Amino acid sequence: CGIVGYIGDGQAVPILLESLKMLEYRGYDSAGVTVFNEKLETYKIAGRIKNLEEIIPENVSGNIGIGHTRWATHGKPETRNAHPHTSSDISVVHNGIIENYLELKERLIDQGYEFKSDTDTEVIAHLLHSKMSCDDKICLLDGLAQTVKELDGSYAIAALSNNDPDVIAFARKDSPLVIGIGNGSNYAASDVTAFLKHTKEVIFINDNEIGLLRPDSIEIYDLEGNSVSRDTETIEWDLEAAEKAGYEHFMLKEIHEQPTSIQNTFAGKLSELEGNVTLEEIYLKPDEVKRLRRATIIACGTSWNAGILGKYLFEKLAGLHTDVETASEFRYSNPVLCGEELTIAITQSGETADTLAAVRSSASYGCRSIAITNVVGSTITRESDSVLYTRAGPEIGVAATKTFTAQLMALYMLAINLGRTRGVISANEAKDLIVGIKKLPGQIQKVLSRKEEINECAVQFADKRDYFFIGRYLNYPVALEGALKLKEISYIHAEGYAAGELKHGPLALITDETPVVAIATKGHTYEKILSNIKEVKARDATVIAVADDDDTEIDKYVDVVIRVPPTHELLSPVLSSVTLQLLSYYTAHAKGCSIDKPRNLAKSVTVE
Ligand code: G6P
Repeated sequence: CGIVGYIGDGQAVPILLESLKMLEYRGYDSAGVTVFNEKLETYKIAGRIKNLEEIIPENVSGNIGIGHTRWATHGKPETRNAHPHTSSDISVVHNGIIENYLELKERLIDQGYEFKSDTDTEVIAHLLHSKMSCDDKICLLDGLAQTVKELDGSYAIAALSNNDPDVIAFARKDSPLVIGIGNGSNYAASDVTAFLKHTKEVIFINDNEIGLLRPDSIEIYDLEGNSVSRDTETIEWDLEAAEKAGYEHFMLKEIHEQPTSIQNTFAGKLSELEGNVTLEEIYLKPDEVKRLRRATIIACGTSWNAGILGKYLFEKLAGLHTDVETASEFRYSNPVLCGEELTIAITQSGETADTLAAVRSSASYGCRSIAITNVVGSTITRESDSVLYTRAGPEIGVAATKTFTAQLMALYMLAINLGRTRGVISANEAKDLIVGIKKLPGQIQKVLSRKEEINECAVQFADKRDYFFIGRYLNYPVALEGALKLKEISYIHAEGYAAGELKHGPLALITDETPVVAIATKGHTYEKILSNIKEVKARDATVIAVADDDDTEIDKYVDVVIRVPPTHELLSPVLSSVTLQLLSYYTAHAKGCSIDKPRNLAKSVTVE
């Protein structure tokens, strides 16, 4: 999502609309603005900013306003769920996820507030209203300070109130917020693209800071009310670079967003104390879960690769026999399915024609279905019995990166949840995994900090014609996805193989001209992959290993080692995958390929 705010001597509506258009790449399923036109007036609608433009009457004038372009996380992309959200004389836009919104919502309903939307954001509006309308009538800034103290989760907020008509209040935690300093006007936005046309002088707001914008001043405070002084920075980016947050390609930006996209996907669902994962949205009763005899995962492309990991996880953690089917094959096969089975459709777009058709076919056998998707309100959400959302935000690069690791996260959570209900794993085993999952965002950051080493490796082999990726067990889907990424964006022929299968064919192709990437993180197949590495080394291949930081043995057998931080054996695919995304990216970069839009490929394949 993207938020904007404007206060100054210009007309707010055209400025806000223009800013929102610049932020449309952050989400575009609904949009809205509130303008102070003697009193607050709010206009919002499902769809793109041009729809919003059409519904705002020409005579709306005002010099203060806030706006929002949405990428749905809670609640469908409908007009009533569009921002701003209002509570009588208060209007709020928000980017982020409020994890404790259900609890706050119940409390506010008890206090008599009526909710008009399904969003988590609406609680902010009502909570702020309740704070400001209590006996000692506090100002908007104090009200917002008290409000954010009760919020768990992430937020960048801009708020307006009829009772404090000369200011925009803002607050930030774990979601970006930047202030633009104009001449007699000030701006607030999720990123600088929104106002770059007007000013390059900015202040980046930090976590747990709140403040006020007036036309000619900016006040920033910490949550204790102490004033914070902050230097102004000058943005050197042009508009195109700013949209990509300064990264050369959307793919690189999206690879770097993974600490956040993973965090957002598990936010509010992991209970370390109880050793469980709460997934109310899957609507499966415990006795139904216990009776399940089989799961069938249906997907295409990268999502299918995620599905292979899902199979291993469901079998290990939930004792549930699982098949993984390519949607285009499944729909024309004669599956043997019965009622006590679960279909899991994985599709980031929620629109892949083959996946939709396969889910319809499985429904005709009476199977229950869960969709794992990144797009709220997409077709798959209407075709399935329940939905588990990945919260990766919009992905623009055609090659899936952050949506893939978010899918892995959804599969970990589902496997733990089913495994606890079926009594296959103990609370302590689940706890170990949950502790490991919570560390992943920081560990991904560490992988990202090593991108220069990965770049060097990529450049060294960028002129090769063929590449192999090998892995065993959980590293097998990592190998498949590593190869798919490389071929998609660098056009190098690459094959992902279960390492034990090499000797049944592909070994004939290994020469000193074929780099072999071996995913060799520690686990119960480690010794086995070492043997496979020796097999290919004996045929003169150059071996690039992805191995744990503390693995001192691997250097003896391979040519290049790319390190990842050690984690729980089951979780290492997340870190190895990020490494291989970078390897593909830098290979394609070295070859000068069209990284964000590879030839012949589409982001969402809505035809058969
Ligand atoms: C296209 C995309 C891939 C994606 C596949 C499945 O081929 O280019 O990145 O993995 O479709 O898409 P889905 O939206 O169903 O995950």
